[in-house]
Amino acid sequence: MIKESQSVKVLVTGGAGYIGSHTVLELVTAGFGVVVVDNLSNASEQSLQRVTELTGKPIPFVNADLRDRSAMATLFQTHRFDAVIHFAGLKAVGESVSKPVAYWDNNVGGTLVLLQSMEQAGVRRIVFSSSATVYGDPQRVPLDEAAAIQPTNPYGRTKACIESILTDLATSGPSWAIGTLRYFNPVGAHPSGQIGEDPRGLPNNLMPFIAQVAVGRRERLSVFGDDWDTRDGTGLRDYIHVVDLALGHVDSLRRILNHPGHWTVNLGTGTGYTVLEVIRAFERASGRSIPFEIVNRRPGDIASCYADPANARALLGWRAERPLEQMCEDHWRWQSNNPNGFSSTHG
Ligand code: NAD
Ligand code: WQD
Repeated sequence: MIKESQSVKVLVTGGAGYIGSHTVLELVTAGFGVVVVDNLSNASEQSLQRVTELTGKPIPFVNADLRDRSAMATLFQTHRFDAVIHFAGLKAVGESVSKPVAYWDNNVGGTLVLLQSMEQAGVRRIVFSSSATVYGDPQRVPLDEAAAIQPTNPYGRTKACIESILTDLATSGPSWAIGTLRYFNPVGAHPSGQIGEDPRGLPNNLMPFIAQVAVGRRERLSVFGDDWDTRDGTGLRDYIHVVDLALGHVDSLRRILNHPGHWTVNLGTGTGYTVLEVIRAFERASGRSIPFEIVNRRPGDIASCYADPANARALLGWRAERPLEQMCEDHWRWQSNNPNGFSSTHG
């Protein structure tokens, strides 16, 4: 049993990325020791430099790919980790359809090397980033964790596969402590405006796209259909502030440090908003108008998806606290301070 955060060292895979960097900030603020491994395939090291500026603490960083066995072995020989928080992975649904082998190799292959390295080093505590995408097209909402797992794209299938691997691992021996977190739609940024989501190329997701329209990088938003079975015909989702999500990882870490076992929780707010509602909220937060046009439905989209977050409350004592207004205000502060993301100020 471990109680003092000061004595705990955590490996954060994918810690330079969007959710990872926010979580590293909260972990360091809570007093945990952190080492980040990331291959920077979808991130900038600037994110960790900003976390250092915000916390006053240097963040040890290893630039390596999880599939690099010798780099991972060296990492686990160099440090005695108490636990791993595993964000590293590819996450673009559309890209996963055109590059399925790359997704299986990176997400599942990377996780297998990570788990083998953990086994060799005797590290048996892990928090894993899964996704509401494992539920596919839900039969009913809100979604609780007992809902059917039926992902509809290769990305989602890699997440469901990793969940199965972790279930098998938990069954293999009582010493494992495994928390699987199914995120709904992470948005927003740290209130400092210093770190946030920095998508490469055309954003896939709604709020980064809206933010780039607001800041003048894109002309208008395409709204993918207004004939869905929702209150205004546009898609409805459970948007969750990335700081709430990051704090959910701190609570999850505390849980796995002190309790063996395997559990799965939804991390969402329990409330859904439509695309038009998000546009209006962002307009209010930014004071900018967001031109949009209604276009055809996006293949693979669903009408409504929102969480029943009761299990996370019961197990972790966690719940999301930051409302949509704050998600938009914080996202806008990040976007307007850094119109071109991390490259705005650092070439
Ligand atoms: P992100 O792309 O910003 O972060 C992922 C990080 O992992 C990146 O920094 C990338 O460089 C790194 N990475 C990828 N493959 C790697 C490898 N083989 N070795 C080392 N590093 C590697 O994405 P994010 O939004 O922060 O998502 C983090 C995790 O949460 C991902 O696993 C993602 O699938 C999951 N998730 C994200 C969302 C979302 O909408 N953002 C929703 C549900 C689940
Ligand atoms: C939200 C709503 C769109 C963009 C995805 C992944 C999921 C998870 C989170 C990782 C929908 C509409 C969007 C645009 C639009 N990621 N939209 N115009 O699809 O719920 O979830 O990100 O695990 O796996 O599938 O999020 O932000 O793409 O879309 O009208 O330009 O906004 O149709 O209704 P989604 P999203």
